[in-house]
Amino acid sequence: MTTSLYTLGIETSCDETAVAILRGDTDLRANLVYSQAKVHARYGGVVPEVASRDHLRKLPYLVHAALAEAGIGFADVGLVAATYGPGLIGPLLVGLSYGKGIAFGRDIPFIGVNHLEGHLFAHRLAHPDDSPPFMGLLVSGGHTALVAVHDYGDYQLVGTTVDDAAGEALDKVGKLLGIDYPAGAEIDRLAAEGNPRAVEFPRPLMASPGFDFSFAGLKTSVRYYLNKHPDANVNDIAASFLASVVDVLVTKAIAAVRRHHLNKLVVVGGVAANQHLRARLHADGAARGIKVFFPPIKFCTDNAAMIAACGAFRHSALGESAPFSLTAVPTLSI
Ligand code: KG4
Ligand code: ZN
Repeated sequence: MTTSLYTLGIETSCDETAVAILRGDTDLRANLVYSQAKVHARYGGVVPEVASRDHLRKLPYLVHAALAEAGIGFADVGLVAATYGPGLIGPLLVGLSYGKGIAFGRDIPFIGVNHLEGHLFAHRLAHPDDSPPFMGLLVSGGHTALVAVHDYGDYQLVGTTVDDAAGEALDKVGKLLGIDYPAGAEIDRLAAEGNPRAVEFPRPLMASPGFDFSFAGLKTSVRYYLNKHPDANVNDIAASFLASVVDVLVTKAIAAVRRHHLNKLVVVGGVAANQHLRARLHADGAARGIKVFFPPIKFCTDNAAMIAACGAFRHSALGESAPFSLTAVPTLSI
């Protein structure tokens, strides 16, 4: 199977409308992301219907802008890759239908991409010369998972969250603290000025032998604490809560790397932008001889470059393409 020269990547699984143009496997020519965060901020979270309509409104313009930025036309695109799950059904259907329409109209192959696998391809874009095996830690608003990447295309789910994702917990605690959605980056900033030992919040499942996560109880602990101490210092709460999240993620990730006899950890997803998580994992990883990779933030938060890279790989290396009957799968797992 030959590599399509240009892949058009489309991502609309949640509240980012994103389009990318990739040449070959890793040569990124355009990477546009329109965030709907402001649209949803007044509701305190993503409203699926509103998200679907906003994707529908913005996507065609982003595709045209991405083609212009890459200096190519529709005729140069050889493959269309769009996220088909997991995510919100309405938003997924917008990107998927639009992508299929382009592929159908131009008579070129189409491929559906698993958003979770896509996140792992942030590493391939950032470090094309580094190859698996590695342990992947995927931490985002919708997902928290440890994935052993034996090779690209060959994954083993090692652990996942039994309730809220790490980013979801950050966003919910942010709401308790009066921070607009999404709250992760603001909590990161507030925590830098706070005392992480001010409040001893629980470290859920940290001492358990498995690799699953649980963050819902931690969020509830913060709520109880704030009910009891309405005048608590916001910086200290942010720092103490974040210390608990980071402690759990770092402990589990390092244990998973060792259990699977690996020496590399790749952290992806929006929460990988967190400065405290980055600092702790670099330090703890170095102390244990584990090489820790964080892709640049633009590849960590939702984007279509990772979707294009994943689609291009599956098409060129694995010979895959999707039938036009492919539909969205909101609960797709890796
Ligand atoms: O990967 P992403 O853009 O979307 C999903 O697939 O969910 O991740 C979004 C999540 C949100 O929960 C947001 O609060 C969090 O990433 N986030 C952060 C930071 N920047 C974004 N969390 C912690 N620290 C940050 N600096
Ligand atoms: Zn994501």
